[in-house]
Amino acid sequence: MTTQQKATLSFEDGTPSVDFPVYKGTVGPDVVDIRKMYGATGKFTFDPGFLSTASCESKITYIDGDKGELLYRGYPIEQLAVNCDYLETCYLLLNGDLPNPAQKKDFEGRVLKHTMIHEQMTRFFQGFRRDAHPMAVLVGCVGALSAFYHDSLDIQNPEHRFVSAIRLIAKMPTLVAMAYKYSQGQPFMYPQNNLSYAANFMRMMFGTPCEEYVPNDVLVRALDRILILHADHEQNASTSTVRLAGSSGANPFACIAAGIATLWGPAHGGANEACLLMLNEIQERGGVEKIGEFVKEVKDKNSHTRLMGFGHRVYKNYDPRAKLMRETCHEVLNELGLHNDPLFALAMKLEQIALEDDYFVQRKLYPNVDFYSGIVQRAMGMPTEMFTCIFALARTVGWIAQWGEMISEPDQKIGRPRQLFTGATRRDVKPIGNR
Ligand code: ACO
Repeated sequence: MTTQQKATLSFEDGTPSVDFPVYKGTVGPDVVDIRKMYGATGKFTFDPGFLSTASCESKITYIDGDKGELLYRGYPIEQLAVNCDYLETCYLLLNGDLPNPAQKKDFEGRVLKHTMIHEQMTRFFQGFRRDAHPMAVLVGCVGALSAFYHDSLDIQNPEHRFVSAIRLIAKMPTLVAMAYKYSQGQPFMYPQNNLSYAANFMRMMFGTPCEEYVPNDVLVRALDRILILHADHEQNASTSTVRLAGSSGANPFACIAAGIATLWGPAHGGANEACLLMLNEIQERGGVEKIGEFVKEVKDKNSHTRLMGFGHRVYKNYDPRAKLMRETCHEVLNELGLHNDPLFALAMKLEQIALEDDYFVQRKLYPNVDFYSGIVQRAMGMPTEMFTCIFALARTVGWIAQWGEMISEPDQKIGRPRQLFTGATRRDVKPIGNR
C-alpha cells in the first residue's frame, strides 16, 4: 500500500476541509483512506451495500469486473482451472504460491489425515428433521465443530490457525455428504483417502456400503472445476461476514458457520438452486414455448421476478467463471448424453434468448457461473438443495484464507460500521395506561 496523493474533502456547512491519503494497490482503483474522517470532521460516510468502500487490504483474490478477470494470488482463473486441481488451489489461496510436487504431496497428506469427523458428531444429525434444508444442517454442524476441536482454537497461534484451516477443508466434504445421506435415510459413508478430494466427495454422496462406487472421470473433473471456480471471490457478502465475525475474535468454525448462513441467500450462493427452481417452474408452465412469457415477467418491474443465474454485482461484461463452467457443462451433458433432456434444452434456449434481448444486453446481464454450475450439478445427479452446500464446501478455503489474513494483520480491529440514524429522537416512556 503506497501513498502518493491526497484527496481533499470540502464542506458547505463551514466544516474546515480535510485531506486524506490516497493509496495505490498493485492493481485496481485507488482508495481514499477516510479512517480519520470522523475525528477530523465529526461526520461519517454513508455507503450501504459497500458500493464504494474497500473494507480491508487483501493480497488474496483480485477481480476486474469490467475486464471479466479473476485472479487468485495473481494467477488467472482460466489457467488454474486447466492446470491445477482444487487442493493445489487451496494451497495457493492459503500460502500465497502454488505448491511444488513435494509441497503438494505434503498438503494432500495433511488434508487426508483430517477427513473423518469425530464419531460423536454423527449423533448430531439425528436431532435434525429428515426434510431439513441441508444448508440448515450445515450451518449447525460446522458451528458445532468448535465444540469438538478445542485443541486448535487459539486464533493468535499460527499453528492452530493452520490446523483449523486444514480441518475445515478436509471435513467439509464429509459433513456435506452426511447432510445429504441423512436426508435420504441412507448410511453415512466414511471417507476413502486413496481417492482424490472430488472423487472422495462423490463417493460419500452417491456410494453405499452395498456396492463399490466407481467414480466417472469426466464428472470428477467437472466437480473439481466447480470447486476451483468457487474457491474465493474477494470481499463478497459471505467473505465479509466471515471477516466481520472473525474480527471479534470468534473461533474459525463459528466464523465459517456465519459465512455459510450468508451464502445461503438467493442473491448469493443460493442462486444456483434458485436458478434450477426457476427452470423447473418454466418447464411446468409449458417449457420452451413459455420462455418468452417468463422473460416478459422478468422485465416487468412490478413482478419482482428476476432471471436467476443472470447478472453480477461486480462482473459487468462477463463472468470468467461462467465461460469455464459453460465448457464443463457441455462436456458433462455430452458424457451423459443429456443434450436433449427437456430441462437442459430449456436452459440453453433461455441462455440464447437472454443474451440477445435488449433488456439484458443494455443492463449487461450475462449468465453467471451459477447458471451453468446448477445445470452441471443437476446432470451429475446432485439434488437441487445440495447446490449451495457444494458452493459452501468450495468457498471454505477462501473464507479461511481471508479470515487468516485478517487475524495476522498487526493492527486488526473489530469491525464496527456506523449508521445514518433516521428514527425517533429521544422521547419519554408513558405509563401503559396513558399510551
Ligand atoms: N434479472 C432481471 N433483471 C435484473 C437481474 C436479473 N437477474 N439482475 C439485475 N437486474 C436489473 C435490475 O432490475 C436493475 O434494472 P433497472 O436498472 O431497470 O432498475 C439493473 O438490472 C441493475 O440491477 P442491480 O440489482 O442494481 O444489480 P446488482 O449489481 O445490485 O445485483 C445481483 C447483482 C444481486 C447478482 C443481481 O443481478 C441478481 O439478483 N441476479 C440474480 C441472482 C443471481 O444469479 N445471483 C448470483 C450472483 S453470482 C454468485 O453469488 C456466485
